[in-house]
Amino acid sequence: MFYEITFSPTGGTKKCADLLSAAWNEKTEIDLMKRQDDFTKYTFTAEDICLVAVPSFGGRVPAVATERLQMMQGGGAKAILVVVYGNRAYEDTLVELEDTLTERGFVPMAGAAAVAEHSIFREFAAGRPDANDEIQLKDWSSKIKSKLEAGTERAMPFVGNRPYKKYGAIPMVPKAKSCQMCGKCVSICPVGAIPADKPNETDGDKCITCMACVAACPMQARALNPVALAGAKAMLKKALEGRKENELFL
Ligand SMILES: Cc1cc2nc3c(=O)[nH]c(=O)nc-3n(C[C@H](O)[C@H](O)[C@H](O)COP(=O)(O)O)c2cc1C
Repeated sequence: MFYEITFSPTGGTKKCADLLSAAWNEKTEIDLMKRQDDFTKYTFTAEDICLVAVPSFGGRVPAVATERLQMMQGGGAKAILVVVYGNRAYEDTLVELEDTLTERGFVPMAGAAAVAEHSIFREFAAGRPDANDEIQLKDWSSKIKSKLEAGTERAMPFVGNRPYKKYGAIPMVPKAKSCQMCGKCVSICPVGAIPADKPNETDGDKCITCMACVAACPMQARALNPVALAGAKAMLKKALEGRKENELFL
């Protein structure tokens, strides 16, 4: 069986995962965003192929995605590792994902680092994955499938450092103005940071600033503080500029 396992707060990671899964006709999707799901029920075998896709947050795998992957049993399943980043850098995300999956009994066979629109600073890598990415990632999907069918070892090591860089959490939390209390954000939040009875509030201790609630709000009522956002953008602007290319590890 082919599985597509994703953590995708605003959809960019999922888009890249879908393109890299294109060579397989059938897939079963597992959504790591779903905090109600019991991830201990997912056990795989050596016959399975699991494409696991996460975004890079501060050059690391989002901690909640790691926690949920750690509940699964790899059972020798072949893993395709996908790290999606917003045009700055993915730093240690790929090797951290490799270590987590290897510990759980998956066998990392291939990987990719792909660029998607930055979910906080949306003007960077806007519209990516674009038409060129689509062609490239679909082509890589076929190449990965052929390699997995041939059963040969991965030739290219993943890029990244151990020990991993320290995660510097983004000190911003989305707040709601003119909230209509529809509760969409409550159900989509991967960490339960938005109370069902007060969806216009956000628990700053739980929130991971993943932007899922901001992207999901039908009223565009949720946003980060524009002044703090402008300050953060000024600091990161240089690193976010220019076109970064996708990378394949096969
Ligand atoms: C909290 C947070 C931290 C991020 N850190 C990085 C980063 O270190 N490097 C980078 O290039 N992009 C970074 N991004 C951008 C995301 O990796 C990118 O937009 C990704 O596509 C988001 O995935 P999604 O669309 O599935 O939510 C960050 C985004 C968020 C919300």
